[in-house]
Amino acid sequence: MMTAFSLRIVQTLHEDHMATMALLERLEGTLRRLGSGPAPATDDPDLSRVLTDAVAVLEEEIGHHYQFEEDHLFPRFAEAIDAGIPNMLRDEHSAIRPVARRMADLARGARAGGFSDAEWGEFVRLGGELIEREVFHIQKEEMGFLPALEQVIDPDDDGDLSMAYAELKGG
Ligand SMILES: [Fe+2]
Ligand SMILES: [Fe+2]
Repeated sequence: MMTAFSLRIVQTLHEDHMATMALLERLEGTLRRLGSGPAPATDDPDLSRVLTDAVAVLEEEIGHHYQFEEDHLFPRFAEAIDAGIPNMLRDEHSAIRPVARRMADLARGARAGGFSDAEWGEFVRLGGELIEREVFHIQKEEMGFLPALEQVIDPDDDGDLSMAYAELKGG
């Protein structure tokens, strides 16, 4: 992957965003193909792959990436520049987090025992909401937040932050 940012921690967040966007694009294609009618068969190979990848990405994105941004990056940005943008991004996390969590639960359940028609309907509806909100959130962070972080974070802190993030993801 081409390096877009000079700080390792910022580049890592950028790569998380790109991986999430790729998953959301695949999810959108799958939801569109299968439609919102009765639940599809879970032996659909494309669907089962997307469900597996969705669980991984949703849990990484909500569990670790959001937490790291909130604990380590929003406070630095607020102190150095302004609290408005981090507060807005944090509100978006709060709106997306329960949707992502519910989708991960539904996907995990479906991998074990398939979707009921009601669960599939909910999954399609939440999927549309998640895609819309998360794509918009990532676009905002990519355009304004990450470039500004390159100015805010002391390059001497980059190694420690990168290590803290790797530990959070691994633990
Ligand atoms: Fe975020
Ligand atoms: Fe992010």
